[in-house]
Amino acid sequence: MSTRKLYIETYGCQMNVLDSEVVAAILQQQNYQLTGELHEADLVLVNTCSIRDNAEQRVRSRLQHFKGLKQGTRPVTVGVIGCMAERLKEKLLEEEKVVDLVVGPDAYRELPLLLQEVGSGQKGVNTLLSLEETYGDINPVRMDRNHVTSFVAIMRGCNNFCSYCVVPGTRGRERSRDPETIIRETTELFQRGYREVTLLGQNVNSYRWKNGGNELQFEKLLERVAVIDPDLRVRFATSHPKDMSDDLLKVMAAHPNLCRSVHLPVQSGSTEVLQRMKRRYTREHYMDRISAIRKYLPEASISTDIITGFCGETEAEHQQTLSLMKWVGYDFSYMFKYSERPGTFAAERYEDDVPDEIKTHRLNEVIDLQMRLSLESKERDVGRTFQVLVEGTSKKSDDHLYGRTSQNKVVVFPKRDIKRGDYINISVTDCTSATLIGEVI
Ligand code: 5AD
Ligand code: SF4
Repeated sequence: MSTRKLYIETYGCQMNVLDSEVVAAILQQQNYQLTGELHEADLVLVNTCSIRDNAEQRVRSRLQHFKGLKQGTRPVTVGVIGCMAERLKEKLLEEEKVVDLVVGPDAYRELPLLLQEVGSGQKGVNTLLSLEETYGDINPVRMDRNHVTSFVAIMRGCNNFCSYCVVPGTRGRERSRDPETIIRETTELFQRGYREVTLLGQNVNSYRWKNGGNELQFEKLLERVAVIDPDLRVRFATSHPKDMSDDLLKVMAAHPNLCRSVHLPVQSGSTEVLQRMKRRYTREHYMDRISAIRKYLPEASISTDIITGFCGETEAEHQQTLSLMKWVGYDFSYMFKYSERPGTFAAERYEDDVPDEIKTHRLNEVIDLQMRLSLESKERDVGRTFQVLVEGTSKKSDDHLYGRTSQNKVVVFPKRDIKRGDYINISVTDCTSATLIGEVI
């Protein structure tokens, strides 16, 4: 079989980045070689995201651009995979004529077969969701740039059904991956020189592996990963505040290589809004979990996700989000305007009634506040010393390297003879709202 070239473009979350690596591994078996050059590709795949409308619009304009590829003499196959494929199914073939292949997140093993169908002049579609698929046995083809930090999937899907969210629909039910395959993959990464892994799942604290009468829960899995090597840093994302347990925080506290950084999406500071979002916790419960983090991991950074302008959000409710942000003093936030997604509970039951200008205005207030909090968070670090894992050369200067602290803050410092993958101690001398600046000690 002659070698063919595969080009993959990935949108959306880290899980999608990993899925692209799984897809590359499946297609490598079929003699497809990865290329970074669109013009030499025989197969172009777009791994898509449906979380907000603008994510989908970006993909659609990219697909328009791909039309040009088909005007050459060589046959080029264009496929849409991931969440948009799952959400829109065959409709995508009608709406975007350039598309030959539509494959949902649980059907990647079928890609070789679907490509054969396309080869014989048909369209290839498979959007079946699965209750079991975890791609646990597949060794992803790593596409990261730094060869120091990587991701390991530990579960797929989501059972939470937050009322705004398209993910349970596009990624199906929750299922956990066999821990032995997780440990094996992580150990191999460490042996290849990687020094940090992020365990990934839509809701990692729901990880649960049943084997006979035994059950392995997330904190136990985390413990097993932590002891692979003290020089391996371990992060995880994303956690749900409703099940961020003290047991998990105690495990983190007991292992210094479990990074001192917790991402705990709050979405809103108002209990009423949280109720409409079906988040299944209150403002008070969330605050209690933050206090627990501060108690067990006093040095941890805390980050979050926030949505502004959800259905029925009043000015007073928005103010509660701002006041909660100040109370927590988030080190970092991802902030979004609510985007109604077809098929979700919110789309079907509530009116998307906050005018776009108000959503934008509230988002800007949230962003301005976070900028201040981020700067304060960095300023607190000036004068302190941190262990930093070196990831590579700074984007802005070839004479500088960058790395991260356990708290996940980026630090830039002069190069000397330090290599990526090294752990070094850095004294922080200055900062911006995004970066710490330091000297090697
Ligand atoms: N509109 C805006 N933001 C959303 N998110 C999820 N669904 C939506 C939506 N419909 C945000 C949430 C989630 C993050 C991954 O994306 O904050 O935590
Ligand atoms: Fe986007 Fe969510 Fe799908 Fe990730 S799981 S690609 S964030 S819709």
